[in-house]
Amino acid sequence: MPPLPALLAPSLLACDFTRLASEIEAVRAAEYLHVDVMDGLFVPNISFGFPVLEAARRVRDHLNSGQVLDVHLMIERPERYLHEFAAAGADSMTVHVEATPHVHRCVQTIRELGKRAGVVLNPGTPLEVLRPLLDSVDLILIMSVNPGFGGQSFLPQTYQRVRTVRGWLDEAGSPALLEVDGGVSAANARQLAEAGATALVAGSSVFGPDGAAAGLARLRSALA
Ligand code: DX5
Ligand code: ZN
Repeated sequence: MPPLPALLAPSLLACDFTRLASEIEAVRAAEYLHVDVMDGLFVPNISFGFPVLEAARRVRDHLNSGQVLDVHLMIERPERYLHEFAAAGADSMTVHVEATPHVHRCVQTIRELGKRAGVVLNPGTPLEVLRPLLDSVDLILIMSVNPGFGGQSFLPQTYQRVRTVRGWLDEAGSPALLEVDGGVSAANARQLAEAGATALVAGSSVFGPDGAAAGLARLRSALA
């Protein structure tokens, strides 16, 4: 079976922040821009928050690229900040099921804010938690590393997890995006698309030494 085309979501976490605007410009052809927010509690790392998201939005608006700002919230009880992230420029917000007892409420709030609502699962979280949410989400994100850091090795169990969720989405007739995040590169992109992923997040494999435009092109050709 030929791989389905997957949308690409370069992860800003891996970019050179001294050149934020030109890094975003280098990946302007990507459909999504992935923005990793970490609070030092849910994950053992702190990345960035509203000012960087606002800056990314300004660059995106200036480029007029139409790129979707895909905000991955690795924060405890994300319901505390959904309004602020929407105001700062998020087009899509994804909350971890492990980070709140109120995942469904978060999804409802995100949609009320007029944004796309996503849920994300850590590699050790049973997929069954997704079942009651299938009808309510615009995006499901499967972590293929333990969240918190870029540059980690892809966990091969992800293929089977993606196939299972793909089956459930197809059964439900859901158009939700199925996104994978962590250790994604030209070496596994095609296999992930074949397993049913429709969006791929990539940090270190895009923002590499030969520049982000080349990194993005490598991923695209792996999928072609
Ligand atoms: C990890 C983040 C990822 C990270 C991916 O917690 O959610 O989005 O930037 O980086 P790579 O592609 O280098 O694994
Ligand atoms: Zn991420």
